[in-house]
Amino acid sequence: SNGAHVQALIIGTGYGGSVAALRLAQAGIAVEMIEMGMAWDTPGSDGKIFCNLTSPDQRSFWLRTQTKQPVGYFLGIPIDRAIPNYTGILDAEDFAGITVYQGRGIGGGSLVNGGMAVTPKQENFGAILPSVNPAEMYNVYYPRANAGLGAGVVPQSWFTKTDWYQFARVGQKQAGRSGFPFQFVPDVYDWNYMQQEDAGTVPKSALGQELLYGNNYGKKSLQKTYIPAALATGKVNISPLHKVTSVSPASGGGYTVLMNQLDTSGNVVVTKEVTADKVVFAAGSVGTSKLLVQMRDTGQLPHLNDQVGQGWGDNGNIMVGRANQIWDPTGSKQSTVPCGGIDNWTKGGAFAEVAPLPIGIETWASLYLSITKNPHRAQFTWNAATQKVDLSWQLAWKQDGITMAKSIFDKINSTEGTIYRTDLFGSYKTWQDQLTYHPLGGAVLNQATDNYGRLTAYPGLYVMDGALIPGNTSVNPFVTITALAERNIENIIANGG
Ligand code: FDA
Repeated sequence: SNGAHVQALIIGTGYGGSVAALRLAQAGIAVEMIEMGMAWDTPGSDGKIFCNLTSPDQRSFWLRTQTKQPVGYFLGIPIDRAIPNYTGILDAEDFAGITVYQGRGIGGGSLVNGGMAVTPKQENFGAILPSVNPAEMYNVYYPRANAGLGAGVVPQSWFTKTDWYQFARVGQKQAGRSGFPFQFVPDVYDWNYMQQEDAGTVPKSALGQELLYGNNYGKKSLQKTYIPAALATGKVNISPLHKVTSVSPASGGGYTVLMNQLDTSGNVVVTKEVTADKVVFAAGSVGTSKLLVQMRDTGQLPHLNDQVGQGWGDNGNIMVGRANQIWDPTGSKQSTVPCGGIDNWTKGGAFAEVAPLPIGIETWASLYLSITKNPHRAQFTWNAATQKVDLSWQLAWKQDGITMAKSIFDKINSTEGTIYRTDLFGSYKTWQDQLTYHPLGGAVLNQATDNYGRLTAYPGLYVMDGALIPGNTSVNPFVTITALAERNIENIIANGG
């Protein structure tokens, strides 16, 4: 509440924030978590908390009057629709050269993501986080993160026979025929629940077209894992619909944190001021970077170093669809939960997740979200004229990612005698090159911070999220974000700050 003093204040309730909250609380520290999005704990008029992919309503998007779907066209026709302005769950945040998709609400990106819980290959780790001891990560922190998140692989006996994964079996078969390894990857979805969905004994979510806008039943988002564990300590409180706007040193020690309480139209209801001994920035790569750059360049935290705002990347995200032969249908039934990918990282710089297109009709399309080794890095800068933070990413930079993704799909198309779909991302547009789901960097570990996320110019300030990772993880990022947070918070607690 306004005027309060708290021991530790955490900005954001995604992976980094939830890990920090649990571990600080277990160490006896009282924690206040501040989240700009909604709680997502109350059903709407349809009895469900979240809406599905094919009927997006006000709950779908963060403060937009029209949906902005990543696959925004079908047969070249735009499929976005009008929605009421509301503090919905998925933010499509537009910068000049890229749209960054992020989750909004208690649980952050875990509310909206595909749940693919991928640990990078150890041989690639040195390029991901060069200052971190890989043995510790692979022996201690990755296992701790995967256990805490509840990651597991689709049961083979079911995968091989269910209609719901025909699209993935087509992906597996075609990868193999072109000589690429198909790798099953863990997901945090409850695979037993999904089989019960298939049997018709429970309400459907993965098999009910729930994707992008939240998942009502089977997904183990942070709302089912780290966050209840943190709340169970009795030392954690969470304030939804509160957006932090400023952090600066308090005259009596600690930090003054300003925040706006929002209504569900995004209007400011009231402004509050809190003081905190410690402040953890866990607002996600974009949220943390924006706050820190603004605080440095407007004089609230002037001693943050010049690495703050640097080293941002898109994890090489590129989406593409392929049109299969008539004898290779991908199925009118498609689980929304991806379960495997095609690995050509070492030779071609691409790892492609075989993604669903669960629109309920046969499309003969195979959809892929590729993670590529795109080398470009952007920076965040404060724009005094607009009073906003800009990001220097350029649309043309995606060409490197496209070239890498083509190392997989040109080959598959040639083997199969197939072509790219050109109708899913516009009219005659093959590549979805205007977005990322995986923002990373902006306050890179051991550059903007020390090797554990401390903003050393300001004792008691820490970065604990995807902003620490320099732009790429070679696979989907949340397991690495979680494992790194587990490592860093342990060191911070052990050393008293
Ligand atoms: P995260 O973004 O999770 O949390 C930050 C939180 O801070 C948010 O809740 C936000 O609202 C809040 N916040 C921001 N600014 C604030 C402020 N000023 N005041 C208060 N609160 C503020 N990854 C993966 O590994 N496997 C996958 O399958 C997928 N799939 C996927 C699909 C889609 C559609 C998206 C959008 C993303 C994915 N991801 C993914 C990416 C993954 O979700 C992402 O990397 C993590 O959520 C990032 O975790 P962080 O802890 O960094 O921030």
